[in-house]
Amino acid sequence: MYVCICNGYRDRDIAQAAQHGHRDAPTAYEALGCGPQCGQCLSYAQAILDKAHSEPRQALALAVQGA
Ligand code: FES
Repeated sequence: MYVCICNGYRDRDIAQAAQHGHRDAPTAYEALGCGPQCGQCLSYAQAILDKAHSEPRQALALAVQGA
């Protein structure tokens, strides 16, 4: 599912960023290649990151889907 329309990031991209240790959305976006543009997606992306760090097995499963 797309999380960020501006950058074309999907939930699995955000989960992969979490797997690489990123805990905040702007930093994760930079690591994925482009920082936030309009910012409308940041709260949802942050929720994915928070969940990924609290439930790492689910995040790993999601990230692997994008591999
Ligand atoms: S939708 Fe993600 S920065 Fe605009």
